[in-house]
Amino acid sequence: MNKVLYPGSFDPFTNGHLDLVNRAAGIFDTVIVAVAVNPGKNPLFSIGDRVEMIRKSCGHLGNVEVVSFHGLLVDALERYKAHAVLRGLRAFSDFEYELQMALMNRSMRSACETIFMMPTPENSFVSSSMVKEIAHLGGDFAQYVPAPVKEAIEQVIEGEL
Ligand code: PNS
Repeated sequence: MNKVLYPGSFDPFTNGHLDLVNRAAGIFDTVIVAVAVNPGKNPLFSIGDRVEMIRKSCGHLGNVEVVSFHGLLVDALERYKAHAVLRGLRAFSDFEYELQMALMNRSMRSACETIFMMPTPENSFVSSSMVKEIAHLGGDFAQYVPAPVKEAIEQVIEGEL
C-alpha cells in the first residue's frame, strides 16, 4: 500500500493545496495531510482549526487523512509509516528551498524520498500568505480557498472588526 505524507503549515489551506491533494489521492492509496506545529511562527489559525478545515475541504476524498505533527518531518514520516513526502512546486522560485529541504531530509534519513507535484496554472500563484493579506485588506479571497476555509477566514475578520 503506497502512502504519501503531505506536510505544510496550511495557514490556511488553499485551492492550490487542495489541487495537490486531489491529484495525489488519484495516485497513492493513502494521502496523509500533516499540519506542522511550528512554535516559531505566529499563525492565523490554531492547529486544531487547520486540521478541521482541511478535513472538511477534503471530505469528498475517501483516502485522505489529516493529522498534525510536531518535531521533525522525517520522524512523522516514520510514525505514519508513509513511503514518501509530497510537496508542491508552483514556480521556479520554490525550487531552491524545496531542494534544500528534500536533501536535508534525505541526509537525516536516507529512506526519505520527496515527490514534487505541480498544481494547475490557475492555482500556481496562490499562496496562504497572499490569501491572508488580501482578506485583511478587504479583497475578494473566496476564489482562492475551499468553502470551509472561506467561512473560517470570514469569522476571523468579523472578530477583528
Ligand atoms: O507550508 P510550509 O510552511 O512551506 O511547510 C514547511 C514544513 C512544515 C514542511 C517544514 O518546515 C517542516 O518540515 N517542518 C518540520 C520540522 C523539520 O523537519 N525541519 C527540518 C526540515 S529540513
